[in-house]
Amino acid sequence: MVTQSHILNWSNAFTGRMQGLSLESSPFAARAASLAERLQDETGRGILPFMTMPFRGALEKEIPSVLEKLAGCKHMLVLGIGGSALGARALQKAFAPGQDRPDHAGPWLWIADNVDADTVTALFDTLPPKETALVVISKSGGTIETLAQYFLARAWLQKALGEGWKKQVVMVTDEKAGFLREEADREGIASLPVPDYLGGRYSVFSAVGMLPAAFLGVNWRALLDGASSVFAPLLKDMNTLAAHPAWKLALWNRMLMDKGYSQLIFFSYIPLWSCLGSWFAQLWAESLGKEGKGSMPFPAVGVTDQHSVNQMFLDGPRDKGCLFVHCPSLDKGPAFGNDVPEKWAWLKGRRFGDLLEAEGLGTRMALAGHNVPLAEFVFAASDERSAGTFMGLLELATVLTGWLLDINPIDQPAVELGKRLANAKLGAPGYPEENTALDAFLNRKGAVDAF
Ligand code: PA5
Repeated sequence: MVTQSHILNWSNAFTGRMQGLSLESSPFAARAASLAERLQDETGRGILPFMTMPFRGALEKEIPSVLEKLAGCKHMLVLGIGGSALGARALQKAFAPGQDRPDHAGPWLWIADNVDADTVTALFDTLPPKETALVVISKSGGTIETLAQYFLARAWLQKALGEGWKKQVVMVTDEKAGFLREEADREGIASLPVPDYLGGRYSVFSAVGMLPAAFLGVNWRALLDGASSVFAPLLKDMNTLAAHPAWKLALWNRMLMDKGYSQLIFFSYIPLWSCLGSWFAQLWAESLGKEGKGSMPFPAVGVTDQHSVNQMFLDGPRDKGCLFVHCPSLDKGPAFGNDVPEKWAWLKGRRFGDLLEAEGLGTRMALAGHNVPLAEFVFAASDERSAGTFMGLLELATVLTGWLLDINPIDQPAVELGKRLANAKLGAPGYPEENTALDAFLNRKGAVDAF
């Protein structure tokens, strides 16, 4: 298969305080060799499975077999949060957008990734239990938000289906440990593994993202092929790292942070890829926000956000870099007819998508003109393979940026505190320090205003 190349254009990447710099002359560039060695070592030891994908062979067998078992289900209800939900949503919106459109006849994917009584009640009131597959996704198998939803969903299914409830459930969780693993083994519930060392936000290419995608009829194999195509040259020869786009992105971002750019806009002019921005935001923020380092990802979608936050991008604090994403070959839709009023006569004969491309160009130029350093991704196509390539590239760029910051991009220790405090508040045992902290916080005296 011949695939066209995508482009990463650096023409406007060195404006503002980046003026006069280059990737080659960056003091961080010298680290390519040692980080290539580190990549070699960590992929060799199997601790970066998002790159090596040792699980692919098993997935090729497991997904079709699980889907066969769920053949009678028109609905899939996914319970998961963070990395266990955002990838699936991004793929749904990009490649199975029918559910947001009139006359959709299924299949339907519902992703419950919040503690929202309203939504959960509505789902249980309206979904047909017999035709709903319940997919519980949690790497740790112990995430309270997901488990709380599961306990309610289990009761809902049991009430409607009796013993048959188990046939409708699939767990996607750690192979050996955690509550969901125990539950799957105890109840004989079908399960798919989240491989070792594959943290939530790096797990979209495992069953975490691929099972919901496959259920929707998305070409999940092409997504995997796209991701593999990014990693293959490196896995063959790590010495090519310095020329790899993921390294260049990491280097550029490290340079941006060094120059005081504390925000990174993810501006997608591929409208259907808008939720890729939320997926990327989690990947970037949870991986890099450590020890006072990192940059704040800001997902935006063209053209919609030209009319909301773009003013701030252009003329607010000079603290933003931008990843600008577009695809000139998107379907352009209908053409304007001769009935267009005279004032807009210049639209006659043009197509709807011409407006998107022209506005993308205008925004790109405006950002560059306002000295927002901008790396421009030009996609040859917006299909599954292209998205897989992009997501793989972003995952690797994130890890490399973390290494250039000398932090661990794989863990997320800070977010645990809030969860421990919530558990303590609800009376969970084993949180003495959190209980003391809660008392102090809740009894803090200060002025309050009623309004
Ligand atoms: O990226 C991550 O590791 C997190 O966002 C997790 O995906 C999230 O906390 C959910 O964790 P789990 O999959 O263990 O339920």
